[in-house]
Amino acid sequence: MTNLPTVLPPFGVGRHLLSVQQFDRDSLQQLFDLADLVRPIAERRQICTVLDGAVLGSLFFEPSTRTRLSFESAFLRLGGEVTTTTGFTFSSMAKGESIADTSRVVSGYSDVLVVRHPDEGSVAEFASASVVPVINAGDGAGEHPSQALLDFYTLKSELQRRDRSVDGCTIAIVGDLKYGRTVHSLIKLLSLAQGITFRTYSPPSLELPPEVAHYARARGHHLTDAETVADALIGADVVYATRVQRERMTEEVLASANVSGNLLNRRILKKAGAAEIIIMHPLPRDSRMDSFDLSNDVDDLPGLSIFRQTDNGVLIRMAIFLTALGCSADMVKATTKQRPWDATLRWP
Ligand code: NCD
Repeated sequence: MTNLPTVLPPFGVGRHLLSVQQFDRDSLQQLFDLADLVRPIAERRQICTVLDGAVLGSLFFEPSTRTRLSFESAFLRLGGEVTTTTGFTFSSMAKGESIADTSRVVSGYSDVLVVRHPDEGSVAEFASASVVPVINAGDGAGEHPSQALLDFYTLKSELQRRDRSVDGCTIAIVGDLKYGRTVHSLIKLLSLAQGITFRTYSPPSLELPPEVAHYARARGHHLTDAETVADALIGADVVYATRVQRERMTEEVLASANVSGNLLNRRILKKAGAAEIIIMHPLPRDSRMDSFDLSNDVDDLPGLSIFRQTDNGVLIRMAIFLTALGCSADMVKATTKQRPWDATLRWP
C-alpha cells in the first residue's frame, strides 16, 4: 500500500463526483489505496463506524440493482444510515417538482447524495443545487464514474495476477457502445494509463461516440474498430462486453442494429483462441433469448471476472464516500474493530 495523505483531497475539481475526467493518476491511486484499506470491512471481517451519524440520500430514477445496493451497503458498512427513493412515481417529481428544488430539499436531509437519472447532464444539475456532495450513479447515456472506477480497479488486479499491468494492455470493448455509459466512462478513465490498445466492436447504429474515441486517441492510445467480435478479440488481454441498452433507443435504431443471438459466447472465444481471456461486463447481463449479450455458457471459464467486479463495487464505493466526506485512512483505522459475530461467508 502506498502512503495515504492525512487529509484526502476531494475528487480533483470540486467536491461532487460527476465524471471520471476529474481524476488524475495520483487521485486515482489514492482512491484505490483507500479501497484496499477497507477490503476487510467490505468482506465483513471488520466493522467500521467512521460514518456514524451520517445520512446518505440515495435517489434512483432509473432501474438499478447492484449500483444502488452496493452504494447503500458501502455506506452502511462504514456505519452510516441510508434513506432512499426509487423511480419517479414515489417522488415529488411526479408532481412536477424540478431537479433543482428536489436536490436542494433532499440535500438538506442528507450528508451526501447518490443520484441516477435517465437524462444526460441531469446529475450535474442536481449537484449545482445541492448543499452536500453529489455522486453520479449514471446520467442517461452520459457517464457512470463509479462503475468505471471499479472496472479499472478490477482490471488492474486481474492483470496483476497475470504479472501484467494496465499500461500497454489490449482491451476489446464490444456491444452497444453508443448508449452504454459504462464504456464511455471506462475508456476515458483508462486513458490515464499508458499505451492502451482499444479494439472496439459494435453493431451498426450503436457505435462509440466519436468524442470518446477522440478522447483516448488524443492521449496517445490506439483505438481501432473491428468488423466482428472475433476480430476485436485478436491479441486482447481482456474483453469488456455490454448489454444492448434497449430502453434508450427508438424501434428504428434497434431495427437497424439488427441484433440477435449472442454477442459473445464460449464458441466465439474458443474459435478466437481466447478461452483464457479476462471477461468483464458491468452487468446486468440480458439472459433472454436473442438478447445479443454475454452468454452464460462462459461462466466456468477461468477469466470470468464479472462477480469480482460486483464485489469490488462495494470497496470502491466505500472509498468514494470516505473521499466525499473527508475521512482519512487514520480515521478509518481508529473506528474499525474485529467482527464479534460469526459469518459463514467464504470469500474466494
Ligand atoms: C450499467 C448501467 O446502469 O449503466 N449497469 C450498472 O450500473 N452496473 C449497465 C447496463 O445497464 O447495461
